Amino acid sequence: MAHISDLIATDIEQYLKAHETKSLLRFITCGSVDDGKSTLIGRLLYESKMLFEDQLAAVEADSKKYGTQGDAIDFALLVDGLAAEREQGITIDVAYRFFSTDKRKFIVADTPGHEQYTRNMVTGASTADAAILMVDARKGILTQTRRHSYLISLLGIRHVVVAINKMDLVNYSEKIYRQIVEDYRVFAAQLGLADITFIPMSAFKGDNITGPSEAMPWYRGTTLMGYLETVEVDDTRMQRTPFRLPVQWVNRPNLDFRGFAGTVASGVIAPGDRIRVQPSGKESTVARIVTRDGDLERAVAGQSVTLTLADEVDISRGDVISTVEAPAEVADQFECTITWMHDEPMLAGRPYLLKIGAKTVTATVTDIKYQVNVNTLEHVAAKKLELNAIGVCNLSLDRPVAFDPHRDNRDTGGFILIDRLSNSTVGAGLLHFALRRAHNIHLQHVDVDKTARAALKHQKSCMLWFTGLSGAGKSSIANLVEKKLHALGHHTYLLDGDNVRHGLNKDLGFTDADRVENIRRVAEVAKLMVDAGLVVLTAFISPFRSERQMARALVDEGEFVEIFVDTPLEIAEQRDVKGLYKKARRGELKNFTGIDSPYEAPEDPEIRLETTRLSLEAAAEAVIAALRQGGIISA
Ligand code: ADX
Repeated sequence: MAHISDLIATDIEQYLKAHETKSLLRFITCGSVDDGKSTLIGRLLYESKMLFEDQLAAVEADSKKYGTQGDAIDFALLVDGLAAEREQGITIDVAYRFFSTDKRKFIVADTPGHEQYTRNMVTGASTADAAILMVDARKGILTQTRRHSYLISLLGIRHVVVAINKMDLVNYSEKIYRQIVEDYRVFAAQLGLADITFIPMSAFKGDNITGPSEAMPWYRGTTLMGYLETVEVDDTRMQRTPFRLPVQWVNRPNLDFRGFAGTVASGVIAPGDRIRVQPSGKESTVARIVTRDGDLERAVAGQSVTLTLADEVDISRGDVISTVEAPAEVADQFECTITWMHDEPMLAGRPYLLKIGAKTVTATVTDIKYQVNVNTLEHVAAKKLELNAIGVCNLSLDRPVAFDPHRDNRDTGGFILIDRLSNSTVGAGLLHFALRRAHNIHLQHVDVDKTARAALKHQKSCMLWFTGLSGAGKSSIANLVEKKLHALGHHTYLLDGDNVRHGLNKDLGFTDADRVENIRRVAEVAKLMVDAGLVVLTAFISPFRSERQMARALVDEGEFVEIFVDTPLEIAEQRDVKGLYKKARRGELKNFTGIDSPYEAPEDPEIRLETTRLSLEAAAEAVIAALRQGGIISA
């Protein structure tokens, strides 16, 4: 490596020692696409001589070949090249780049790709002390600049550098620089960002990066490197925060050893300390702190350790170990801020996976309280959050989790949302506080249960979920199946789309958000009916896999029978019993399923009915036969 320091050659011990005691600054870069982030990071790595010589040679060659910068080195190629080497994790792909100067060590959370920008900014920011906000001098303050500033303030990053880049492309104009500073100050005042430094620069040409720019004699402030080397860092902040260890895995190599492994998120722990395991609330005492290099007398934030305890306590992956004096909180309903990062909007009522620390649970947004207009900071009503939107929401989990409010602990107060079907990260959020109502509502135990109620009716209760296009034949088949079940002596109830939309759901239309809410309510009602011991039939288009999956998850294994009424669009449209397809084709009916609103066919339904081959009677009989065969009704 071409790290040039005289000490390396003369006194390696001394060099390493100096290196070890240097303070560490963690920072992130953000801004709009093409503001020059890659060039800047490449430049910083280059200036700090942290490039491998072969990398440097490669990038020089590449610059000549592909570079957009004439004969000069195109630093963006360097960073993008490094990014391509990186393994992509399924949920969080932030790469941390390391470099150092004589004064300090640096870790910059580098964010790949362009489209996933905001997401990486949020996930990369949990430990950052400072943020470099890139602004293109030609473009000035953009919506994206404001959005990222808002996120920086939410994330609690205290130091902000507004890097007004590409000054070479505006003739190093002081006037343009001043205007941008002025514009930004007005906006930042509303956010309450405390420490803002403005630096006019050219990452490409190197102006004001390590040395003062000759082209901008009117600027007398610090260079970027000068700033990064001197900005105050609070190295001990995470150590002063109460102890939290999210358990990554339970290490049990043999019967005599049981250790709980993870990275200390915050605080300090020592053998003999009393701990509490959450959410269970069980307590014990730390026996040993085991590491690969032997036992420790204490462990601090950032260290990866394995704790053993004095007592046999049941702990699993995802639990959080705190000290008894300052335990985390435990709740299953929260107010939170969510940043949405996916092309498909976030819908209230739709279940997502939520990952907090090492724990993954199912979460539903129960209410979008408001969305923030990042330009004006106004609160606006919203039914969904589109890509890049930031909203304050209520969130409900299927299980309680240990957490801290984000303002107290960035680690245990932050989470990501994952799409259940594609497994991709779709949102990131910060927890504000637990909703009190969750504390005050307890599940009431009832003595007469589902089995008892169903037994009295001589049946097993279940949910027969018919799904398919409008006009596929769901209602007709469900109706006939109910008649047959009734004749066989079963206690049934049919929830039909059109009927329910005249009553319980008459406030809902056909936007994606309304359809999700429609199915959520129907699934909850159907669940109550299953609990009442009934055979429930539902006939709704229920176009989304997500919501059908949610309905399935509400009842026990084997109680949910998905029946796909498989009628091709052409046939349903030909039949057009209600004349709605014609209306939709004429453009008089918006969001019509199959025309301008999607239908996600079941991949693996319990029963599939091809109505082009089966008569109504045969379809209904097929359902009855399948229910008999599955032991759901008696033969
Ligand atoms: S769902 O998508 O939310 O499950 P649901 O089954 O309740 O739909 O209602 C569908 C019925 O509403 C259709 O059979 C049709 O009669 C009527 N309808 C009216 N407008 C639409 C529309 N835009 N898309 C689909 N169905 C519609």
